[in-house]
Amino acid sequence: MDWTWSFPVWSLIIFSPTLLLLLLLHRHKSSSNRLPPGPPGWPVFGHLFSLGAMPHRTLAGLKKQYGHVIWLNLGSINTMVVLSAKAATELFKSHDLSFVDRTTKCTMQSHGYDKASLALAPYGTYWRVLKRLCTVEMLVSKRINETVSIRRKCVDDMLLWIEKEAHVVAEARGGVHVARFVFLTSFNLLGNLMLSRDLVDPQSKVGSEFLSVITTLMQWSGHPNISDLFPWLRCLDLQGLRRKMDRDLGNALKIASGFVKERMKERQEGTERKKDFLDVLLEFDGSGKDELSKLSDHQINTFILEIFLAGSETTSSTTEWAMTELLCNPKSMSKVKDELAKVVGPNRKFEESDIENLPYLQAVVKETLRLHPPIPFLVPRKAIEDTDFMGYHIPKNTQVFVNVWAIGRDEECWDDPFSFKPERFLGSKVEYKGQHHEFIPFGSGRRMCAGVPLAHRMLHLVLGSLLHEFDWELDGHVTPETMDMKDRLGVTVRKLEPLKAVPRKGKVE
Ligand code: HEM
Repeated sequence: MDWTWSFPVWSLIIFSPTLLLLLLLHRHKSSSNRLPPGPPGWPVFGHLFSLGAMPHRTLAGLKKQYGHVIWLNLGSINTMVVLSAKAATELFKSHDLSFVDRTTKCTMQSHGYDKASLALAPYGTYWRVLKRLCTVEMLVSKRINETVSIRRKCVDDMLLWIEKEAHVVAEARGGVHVARFVFLTSFNLLGNLMLSRDLVDPQSKVGSEFLSVITTLMQWSGHPNISDLFPWLRCLDLQGLRRKMDRDLGNALKIASGFVKERMKERQEGTERKKDFLDVLLEFDGSGKDELSKLSDHQINTFILEIFLAGSETTSSTTEWAMTELLCNPKSMSKVKDELAKVVGPNRKFEESDIENLPYLQAVVKETLRLHPPIPFLVPRKAIEDTDFMGYHIPKNTQVFVNVWAIGRDEECWDDPFSFKPERFLGSKVEYKGQHHEFIPFGSGRRMCAGVPLAHRMLHLVLGSLLHEFDWELDGHVTPETMDMKDRLGVTVRKLEPLKAVPRKGKVE
């Protein structure tokens, strides 16, 4: 036997699988070496147990040790977390397209919601058409200007509800649950813009059903779900969240479909009315270059729900934090009240046209969004391809969180970042329109919030009216020093202990 020949051949036969394995392991090691750094995790569970109840806070604390970007395994989901303005700039300026898709929660896949929703739809024709429709036909200044009187009426209702409630709670020396009234007002406002109807009218049975079912949807979708961390457990639906979502989303879609049918009947009968968002959706008949010629009934019904889910809790949570910060910072409260007294005065109501003349109020809204962005990780994105990002190799399908809560407190961008100081925005060019990556409460890039012009109006109108109409005090048991500033993460980051405040009538002089 010729050993000189046979040795290499046999050794190859025996050792080649081992070599292959070693090679693969080496490749795996070198590519995972190029993943961003991160804290050590547990086998199987990864970093699940180290994030705590307020993951935006926990993760913000890791920047000092690991830098601008970190890597986590949330169960079996690979996740990159962006923690600084520098990394956000890199993401949105150079890699927006690589991270343009969304990861979707199991509950949001119910009834094909994720495919029909603008916020969750995969990047493609449907998303592009709907986003254009939204940003060119619905949520634009021209159409928003046409609906000033609707918002005025909804805000007047809110002021009346609060006044009545103040009388009721005064006997118990308690305060008014501010966020509840703002939530109802935002809901009513969106109902009027979308469907031309008062959904919060106690006389409207279908309105109350719709309100209650949307509130439950928020509960199920904001709840942590084990099926999102271990997709192979989805079929077991261990927490029953998918079953609940299937039931309640089904009901919500049925109610939305009822609104649409009613509207189609009105249109056939030629009933005269002002055009609203639903008319825009029904009138859409595609355009030459779009492959989409018409929106399906399911897509329209889903879009109706989406507007309420996207716009109501974000607005109420921001307003609650603004009121909380002002009540804890009496100097800022008196400055904003003085400005309202000077510009609006005691003899008329706050109008949307006042906003541009109220720089301090605008600064209060910005400072609130810096410290308390309602969606602290933005809506999670997903890598559509393997991507080289800041020297790291990010594999396709990686989930991406942009921690705007941490970025708003980034010491490299903000002086005294933990203090509430609206003055920092006076004379500053920093805006929340997606260009200044140190301040992106509405996101940035292609998937940025579609509702910024409307949110801008609603936030200033609601907060400005609350401050102009009433003098506010903390309820008897709480002082600025003892105010509980903890938050909790659901669909949005809300105040853990809802703000209770006492409104006193008497416009600022
Ligand atoms: C305080 C108010 C609001 C805040 C802070 C807010 C914030 C956000 C954020 C952070 C995103 C994800 C952006 C990204 O991934 O880069 C988003 C997306 C979105 N928002 Fe808002 N939002 C608010 C109000 C509204 C309103 C009033 C509407 C509509 C009536 C709206 C409609 C949407 C839609 C449709 C998307 C999905 C955009 C896409 O994926 O292309 N939002 N919003």
